[in-house]
Amino acid sequence: MKKFSQSPLPFQGQKRKFTKGFTAALANYPNDGVYVDLFGGSGLLSHTVKTVYPMSKVVYNDFDGFSRRLQAIPETNLLLAQLRQILSDYPSDCKITGLHRERVIELLKEADRRGFVDWITLSSSLKFAMNYGTCLTDFTDSTLYNSIRMNDYDATGYLQGVEVVSMDYKELFLKYKAVDKVVFLVDPPYLSTDTATYGSNGYWKLKDYLDVLQVIHNRDYFYFTSNKSQIVELCEWISSVSTTANPFEGAIRTAISTTTSYNSGYVDIMYHYKK
Ligand SMILES: C[S@@+](CC[C@H](N)C(=O)[O-])C[C@H]1O[C@@H](n2cnc3c(N)ncnc32)[C@H](O)[C@@H]1O
Repeated sequence: MKKFSQSPLPFQGQKRKFTKGFTAALANYPNDGVYVDLFGGSGLLSHTVKTVYPMSKVVYNDFDGFSRRLQAIPETNLLLAQLRQILSDYPSDCKITGLHRERVIELLKEADRRGFVDWITLSSSLKFAMNYGTCLTDFTDSTLYNSIRMNDYDATGYLQGVEVVSMDYKELFLKYKAVDKVVFLVDPPYLSTDTATYGSNGYWKLKDYLDVLQVIHNRDYFYFTSNKSQIVELCEWISSVSTTANPFEGAIRTAISTTTSYNSGYVDIMYHYKK
């Protein structure tokens, strides 16, 4: 089975920086366990477990319809080929203007009329870095750039053997909480993160992040967060001034720093715990 070290399609918040650390940490967990990826996103964690432990049961919660985007890869590749043609004589990484822009917009409108379009993936080819659109007007009403990807996307075998479900994480947790050898993979949207490309935009508040901590209580788990969210600090503080236990007590912490620009950056954190 081919191992992907990152999501085969663009996905904000995918755990590609942790694939190595996550794979190493899995060594302490059962090869025939039941791994429930409560906040599946791009499915990268589910895919990783299945490649490491082919005998395990892996449940991927596709809350955003990422599998729909995977299914659409042939159409996405076709659109990219047409865009490459339209922009073949156009300088790369430049704003698309004039007749070229008109032709690009016409192509996008046609695709939209035909049905599903993977706007998030197209964003990587037509928008400024890290800018994402989720519908036609996010493209027709904004500046477009010629940063067309030159290779086709390929996700062959990516979700092979993985069970795909789509529901609120609380419902999924209830279904599996009493199952033998269950391990929960918990990677909620980060606090203070732009969640515009997630199905849940605007919904996540501090209370929602605190609610999530109930699923790790007294369970085998992997939990992902970042120093931007400050959930861990909050838990440490509460446990220091009250009798409430810190939910991360006894867990192993792995951190990866990322520098975004001069003197600024953030730290991605993975906690994992085995009873
Ligand atoms: C940080 S991302 C997960 C990334 C994933 N681990 C990966 O590697 O691609 C968080 C995901 O949780 C999803 N989500 C938001 N609200 C949810 C809910 N109530 N139940 C389940 N998933 C939810 C978001 O849409 C997003 O896909």
